[in-house]
Amino acid sequence: MRQFTEDNLTEEVVARFKKGAKDARFRELMVGLVKHLHAYAKEVKLTEEEWFEAIKFLTAVGQKCDGKRQEFILLSDILGLSMMVVALNHKTAPGATEATVLGPFFAHGAKEYGYGADLRVGATMKGEDVWVSGRVLAVDKDGVSGKPVPNAVLDIWQAKADGIYDLQTEGEFELRGRVKANAKGEYAFASYKPKFYSIPMDGPVGELVRATGNHHMRPAHMHAIVSAPGYQQVITHVFVDGDPYLEGDAVFAVKDSLVGKYKKVNDAAEAKKLGLPNPFLKLEWDFRLAPQSGAKARKKIAASDAIA
Ligand code: BEZ
Ligand code: FE
Repeated sequence: MRQFTEDNLTEEVVARFKKGAKDARFRELMVGLVKHLHAYAKEVKLTEEEWFEAIKFLTAVGQKCDGKRQEFILLSDILGLSMMVVALNHKTAPGATEATVLGPFFAHGAKEYGYGADLRVGATMKGEDVWVSGRVLAVDKDGVSGKPVPNAVLDIWQAKADGIYDLQTEGEFELRGRVKANAKGEYAFASYKPKFYSIPMDGPVGELVRATGNHHMRPAHMHAIVSAPGYQQVITHVFVDGDPYLEGDAVFAVKDSLVGKYKKVNDAAEAKKLGLPNPFLKLEWDFRLAPQSGAKARKKIAASDAIA
């Protein structure tokens, strides 16, 4: 057949992919994509002008990407697609820390620290000092947590006090680090309390958000990727209790189980011991990991998953 209409074109494209694509999963992905794209075009009666606008938009998204800027991740995030993929792939074991989006600002190569790290060192802007501490615990199949996970690594990153990430500036890494928990599963570091911020609005995705009338704020949070041999890695956030944007996060990433309390501490002796000014804030937060065994081994975050 060589003459196609809106009634038989999808079938032909699908047939060619089915015949040509060697890898079964790749074939499934491509066939599904073609079917849904064609169905979408038919449903909304896509005009040529509209499709050309969409191509111009996607081109601009690609052109906005560079070594530090990942506009495609941002697009996936604001469409809710990132959270859909997280939801499909992380049916969290009962009691384990819930997963959420990676976002566009993760970077490989952050400095390594041990217990008691000071992530404020080198920060170009001060914020409210906070001591973050807790344990990395294992959950068993009944969702009970208890056994400490020794030597876990917590990859931590967050925005500066002005809501801008280091990757959005010309400078060095700030407020990020790979913090190693000790043999008892305990970790601790000093940082600044995160603040809510706007997703980057100076590119094509920002224009899209404005055109859709959606809001563009993210509630305050720090990011963490927690990994330990033998356990499922979790990509997660800790949000700040009381933040005005917890309802309506621009990227749909909030989960009730991920909201932490930053408590004010007024104790000069403790502040001195921790190397913080008095008063200061404290966040006590345990991460709970499910064992790898029995679960399908998930690929850990790889160089290709993020920029820099
Ligand atoms: C972030 O949390 O860093 C983020 C996530 C999605 C979009 C923009 C920023
Ligand atoms: Fe963030």
